[in-house]
Amino acid sequence: MDGRDLVRSMKTVGSAGAAQGLRTVRAAWRRRRADATGLPARGAERARVPGPVQDVEPGPGGGTIRFSRSELRILVAVNGAVFWGWDGACPEPSYALAGRCPEPDPRAVLEPDKDGGWRVVAERVTIVVSRHGAVEVRTPGGVTLRRDLPPRWWEPRDGGPARWMQRSEVAADARFFGLGGRASGPRLRGGTYRLWNTDPGGAFGRADDPLSLTMPVQLVVSDAATHLVFHDTSWDGTVTLREGEEGAGSGHDRPGSCELRMDGGPLRCWVVVGTPARVLLAWASLTGAPALPPAWALGHHHARWGFGSEQEVRRIVAGYHEHGLPLDAVHLDIDHYDDHQVFTVDQDRFPKLPVLAEELRRDGIRLVSIVDPAVKAEPGNAVYDSGLAEDAFVRDASGRLVEGVVWPGEAVFPDFTHARVRRWWGELYGERLGQGFAGFWHDMNEPTSFTAFGEPTLPRSARHALDGRDGDHREAHNVYALCMARAAYEGLRELLPEERPFLFSRSGWAGLQRYGGTWSGDVATGWPGLRASLSLVMGLGLCGVPYSGPDVGGFDGSPSPELYLRWFQLGAYLPLFRTHASMRAGRREPWEFGPEVLEHARVALVERRRLLPYFVTLAHLARRTGAPYVRPVWWGAPEDRALRDCEDAFLLGDCLLVAPVLDPGAERRAVHLPRGLWYDTATGRRHRGPGQVLVDAPLSRIPVFARAGAVIPVRGDDGGLELEVWTPARGRTGGGLVVRDTGDGWDEPEVERYVARWEGRQVVVEREGEDGLYEPSHPVRVRGLV
Ligand code: NOJ
Repeated sequence: MDGRDLVRSMKTVGSAGAAQGLRTVRAAWRRRRADATGLPARGAERARVPGPVQDVEPGPGGGTIRFSRSELRILVAVNGAVFWGWDGACPEPSYALAGRCPEPDPRAVLEPDKDGGWRVVAERVTIVVSRHGAVEVRTPGGVTLRRDLPPRWWEPRDGGPARWMQRSEVAADARFFGLGGRASGPRLRGGTYRLWNTDPGGAFGRADDPLSLTMPVQLVVSDAATHLVFHDTSWDGTVTLREGEEGAGSGHDRPGSCELRMDGGPLRCWVVVGTPARVLLAWASLTGAPALPPAWALGHHHARWGFGSEQEVRRIVAGYHEHGLPLDAVHLDIDHYDDHQVFTVDQDRFPKLPVLAEELRRDGIRLVSIVDPAVKAEPGNAVYDSGLAEDAFVRDASGRLVEGVVWPGEAVFPDFTHARVRRWWGELYGERLGQGFAGFWHDMNEPTSFTAFGEPTLPRSARHALDGRDGDHREAHNVYALCMARAAYEGLRELLPEERPFLFSRSGWAGLQRYGGTWSGDVATGWPGLRASLSLVMGLGLCGVPYSGPDVGGFDGSPSPELYLRWFQLGAYLPLFRTHASMRAGRREPWEFGPEVLEHARVALVERRRLLPYFVTLAHLARRTGAPYVRPVWWGAPEDRALRDCEDAFLLGDCLLVAPVLDPGAERRAVHLPRGLWYDTATGRRHRGPGQVLVDAPLSRIPVFARAGAVIPVRGDDGGLELEVWTPARGRTGGGLVVRDTGDGWDEPEVERYVARWEGRQVVVEREGEDGLYEPSHPVRVRGLV
């Protein structure tokens, strides 16, 4: 056990309470014993590299190159993504892919290259394979974006999964992003990042890694192009990154590097090259369009571990009303369960939950339920009994149920990698719908099992169906939460076919966006936690999961009024805007921090509500294009190096640039603007990018800029949709897209396209139609006119 494990275990045991203490010790021993007998001992290993090329076999979209000790299959797909797999690995089966592997691009053919190598030339990328198995990704112009050196395997002599290592080089100017949710980003600096979904066991800070949602997805941005690389294997591993260095024109650049070391699984990857927008589009076409949250989920959510009773929920909701604060959802944490048992309700403290839910719904407020995967292992617990009858729970190598410890005490874990178990679990959400819940919050699904020592999860030897392939937790761990999300999503579609499911999940993997979003987990209260919040949202968006947000105010302790307010102001511009905290933490209601904070928080809430149509539009665009709502400022100009290094501001869609205050005491801040004309939305002042400007950031607001020419759908005073138009630069035009909310069902609204242009001394806005331009049917408000 390393130092971090020890600290985590101590935190876990501490937070689990004394009664749990002994159980976690027993569970830790059980886990250790299970792995001692259930996992093959790692004996002597044989190292292997591909060896020299022998022959090739062209095939659709590429072909197979045979080396003396491995073979490499290359396939360029019609969406421009490139797949390659060593040892003959195919794209399928894969938990990440949304459906079948896309069709091969017939124009991509394998042809000889110099020095005995081979290449595949496709429209947007060229792949060059050397005769010893180095693989280069080049732009159509011939610039090398990534060079994978020949991989190396270590195979146990007596069989079992091979470990492997893949070292790559990238351009000296390249920057790394992604790898799922990382607190230290969004730019991933040199260091080792682990690929193993992990509950940090308490509030986490910038240095904690890994967290609950890891993904072997890297987005690499360099002058020549952006590329995304996804290593499609769910095994435990590490990624060691080293940023390159440029020799300031001396010609002595040192390339950046990346070293992937995995404990097993196929060595196969997908690469997409292009602009950030094109890359995310192709990624969404591979792994699935992001689920569209209902409009209410784009409003403000309030949660707390420990509301404790219906009366307290009512008191909080009344507080929101009395203080004139918009509220869209209230979340109930595990304290509303009966004895911490999932899919139950404590009837003493929540005796009339459906009535409460109905009352709230009449006020436009939805109830969201936490759902934990662990099922209390106690006969008489209906979910346990029905799960046993269904043989739904994970077993160890000798066929015994794997028991861990979570909030309800001794608990068992459904095997979500089995279609039959997913169906059984999905049906259980019927009970939640009956209680009046409209959305679902998946927690503790790394999966977490409290332990006094060792890893806080299931034994690595625990058996899983892996959808017919049969394997163990080493392979299933990272996709456990993804499969749980699938179970819930598919169950809800059956139970309530007319409504889009809403769920978000602490853990997950590549493809989670198909079913829902995520949130930060227990981000530590403090200024570093505020920064981590933004890092997580931006990083996840670049991995294809656009809907997420932090615990506003941080999970633990008590934020200062200033910190709370700055967090609130940031949260108001993030997709999931939710205040939440631990039961041991201080309050998080806006009126608990004094009249000044209350006033400013109200402004943030009202502005969020005003921007709701814009958020709805961004959600639709994310679904159609894969583009996250929250984008790094370099999104449209990745070649601008100063922007590439800017981590403290973000673009919200195409139209807005948000510059949160992330430091205490700041009343002004520097903002790096991309090219073009930008309006400070509070003062109307114009600034020209690219470049840095210094702007006011009083406690009352954070700086938000609108792009000149932007057409933004907002909610007017009468609740109807209005178009807010920011005056284009003289002689320039502008425009924007609007997708209207058509309710919580499956209607496909059309994308409305608007153009803004100067006509004499006036700015006019028109809607593009099939046969010309029309006057918009929404009221138009022009801002920024001088
Ligand atoms: C851990 C989650 O991250 C947190 O949000 C929740 O309040 C607690 N579990 C209790 O359910």
